[in-house]
Amino acid sequence: MSSKNHSSALSEPGIRVAPSLLSADFGRIGEQLRQVEAAGAELVHLDVMDGHFVPNISFGVPVIRSLRKQTDLFFDTHLMITDPLFYAKPFVEAGSDNITFHIELEQDPRKVVERIRSLGACVGISLNPGTPAEAVFDILPEVDLVLVMSVWPGFGGQQFIRDVLPKIRAIRQRLRPDQRLEVDGGIGVDTAGAVAEAGADVLVAGSAVFASPDPAQAISQIRLAAEQAA
Ligand code: DX5
Ligand code: ZN
Repeated sequence: MSSKNHSSALSEPGIRVAPSLLSADFGRIGEQLRQVEAAGAELVHLDVMDGHFVPNISFGVPVIRSLRKQTDLFFDTHLMITDPLFYAKPFVEAGSDNITFHIELEQDPRKVVERIRSLGACVGISLNPGTPAEAVFDILPEVDLVLVMSVWPGFGGQQFIRDVLPKIRAIRQRLRPDQRLEVDGGIGVDTAGAVAEAGADVLVAGSAVFASPDPAQAISQIRLAAEQAA
């Protein structure tokens, strides 16, 4: 079951930090989830990889279903998989509040958006670092959020690619106030200001949070750096 407040969780403007559980210790993932919830994270980012769209495999439906029992936090599921049209349903049923899929796929993005909406979840569209902003312009009015990848997807702990900043600006100019712009990859205290200044308002942070000795402090420092620059 999804968290109760999911329909409004993305529609209000404001900076949000989304810890990515990909960088958590999977041996104590429930504990780490509760830790970031207590630290004031607004949502949690769940990176699903199929070993096909990206060269890595992370976790899937059963793990999300188990995590759902532990928290009411908004589940922001990032599908790095080749068949979101088929898998949207099990991921929403497992408790995802938002499903983000990639524009680089061969599937018709409108069909995927319609499927996710019909399941009652929010919808995000993501672009890899090599994909131009124009690739998502047609679908922009249909989505709740755009996820700009600031690393090549597949692994946590990579270095932020600064070349994506103009793309963030170009997309921000075309979004409505009720749509969010999320950035994912290499985000920490040192990069949060630049992406927020460019127009990002949901900041995914994996290693910056979970590799920190104090995840709560890391979240608040990232949020503060972004708020000061926004
Ligand atoms: C990468 C994932 C990211 C990843 C970010 O493919 O989509 O969400 O967890 O990790 P950091 O913040 O360490 O770059
Ligand atoms: Zn991600």
